[in-house]
Amino acid sequence: MTALSTDAIVAIAGAGAMGSGIAQVAAEAGHHVLLFDAFEGAAQRGRDGIAASLASQVSKGRLERAERDRILDRIQPVNHLDGLADARLFVEAITEDLEIKRTLFREVERRAGPEAILATNTSSLSITAIAAGLNDPRRCVGMHFFNPAPLMKLVEVVAGTATSAAIIDTIADTAEAWGKKAVRCRSTPGFIVNRIARPYYGEALRILEEGVADIATIDSLMTQSGGFRMGPFALMDLIGNDVNFAVTCSIFEANFSDPRYRPSLMQKDLVDAGWLGRKSGRGFYDYSEKPSAANDASSGSLSNRPTLAALGAGRALRIDGISILQTDGRSAAELELTMGLPVVLHDLILNTDGLKRIGIVASPGVSDEALCRIVNGLQAEGLEVSQVADHPGMIVMRTVAMLVNEAFEALLHKVASAQAIDLAMRFGVNYPVGPIEWGERIGLPIVLSVIEALFDATRDSRYRPSLGLRNVVTRQRALALPA
Ligand SMILES: NC(=O)c1ccc[n+]([C@@H]2O[C@H](COP(=O)([O-])OP(=O)(O)OC[C@H]3O[C@@H](n4cnc5c(N)ncnc54)[C@H](O)[C@@H]3O)[C@@H](O)[C@H]2O)c1
Repeated sequence: MTALSTDAIVAIAGAGAMGSGIAQVAAEAGHHVLLFDAFEGAAQRGRDGIAASLASQVSKGRLERAERDRILDRIQPVNHLDGLADARLFVEAITEDLEIKRTLFREVERRAGPEAILATNTSSLSITAIAAGLNDPRRCVGMHFFNPAPLMKLVEVVAGTATSAAIIDTIADTAEAWGKKAVRCRSTPGFIVNRIARPYYGEALRILEEGVADIATIDSLMTQSGGFRMGPFALMDLIGNDVNFAVTCSIFEANFSDPRYRPSLMQKDLVDAGWLGRKSGRGFYDYSEKPSAANDASSGSLSNRPTLAALGAGRALRIDGISILQTDGRSAAELELTMGLPVVLHDLILNTDGLKRIGIVASPGVSDEALCRIVNGLQAEGLEVSQVADHPGMIVMRTVAMLVNEAFEALLHKVASAQAIDLAMRFGVNYPVGPIEWGERIGLPIVLSVIEALFDATRDSRYRPSLGLRNVVTRQRALALPA
């Protein structure tokens, strides 16, 4: 364990949303914290904001008054960089601009002791590039907290090309000592979370643009069938379409216009219109309207719900003589052509416990009457049914397959370990299951076949399967051959 001891002084530069949050985390962990901001009065305002947030914890009975006082006593606003010279750890959380950050780091290095660690909370800039202006770039590291820092558990510990391994260990252990989950990764655009999450938004936007389903249906399927905490459109509205679009553009540009990260014209249109989401009163949804009543389908014991029990056990289902199969990427029409029989496909479900909604699509040979009986049968078991257009991979499966593909691509390029990737997506964006584990649960050959079907249908290299995913599937197939 190489965590900094609580005797070590922590300096934070930038007393905005992130800097104040990180100052609070470090002070709660027992460090003396120097909070610096270049703008007159901003450091004191940052401390006042922390005091207000701690006061609300006290009023809710979650924090003792005496403990609040001890935490606040440890936070000292500082108005000049000279005041930071004694810090052992320096965390920068200022404006997201490479030149401004580089200038600050050079100024800090001139004043700091030889042992001081220089960390940056940047979301999108290269740690290697920030470190490049320093005399000793080995001590520069990414310490990427998520917003709000006191609540969000994840910290990405990001190594630039020159960062020393010992400093990575110290920062990861220190983040853990501060009550966080630390994941180590290499400095590549978007690090782990902002990169692997791109398809969550990007596929939803494409699915909408292609007319597979409407906004509300896509969001409901992702939450009620896929188990995600928020649907992609509700989430983009919460993040702000301007912010979400800017992150996508920055990752797209940083990857030399790789179509995997291509931004959406539909989202750009919303940004151009000023429909930024919750903060502007309108985004994908209109927030001036009353929210519609939550969709709460009844749930009962699985034994009374034979269709659900069969889905849960992975058994083939037949209703009215028609097979109901989980999508494997092929469209329902294509499957009918292959099998010579009409079929109904259902979308990926996370699990049957608490399942409230299921997405289905019927092949052309399914009569309206038969489809009606199938829908009624599913509804009789307490499920809402969303019928979607017949596109490869439907909605939840297509999105999750693309998340898994991106995770395998990051793994292939040694951005982080499989364990770090799964942990990062669970704690950084609250995914119900990490993408690598999810891929294994679905079956990696199925994930690969979904991506290949999307590629075949679109010929868009956005949908090229990751070599990492393909290699694992080929290996699994070789191992499964009879000896
Ligand atoms: N907001 C988020 O969701 C989020 C999440 C993770 C990381 N980040 C990153 O954290 C950093 C800060 O983001 P934020 O949202 O807290 O921004 P913010 O605008 O709320 O705060 C930035 C603060 O930095 C101060 N500042 C600007 N230039 C300075 C300088 N040269 N020296 C000292 N102080 C200076 C400003 O006065 C301001 O108080 C950025 O790098 C951002 O990418 C943001």
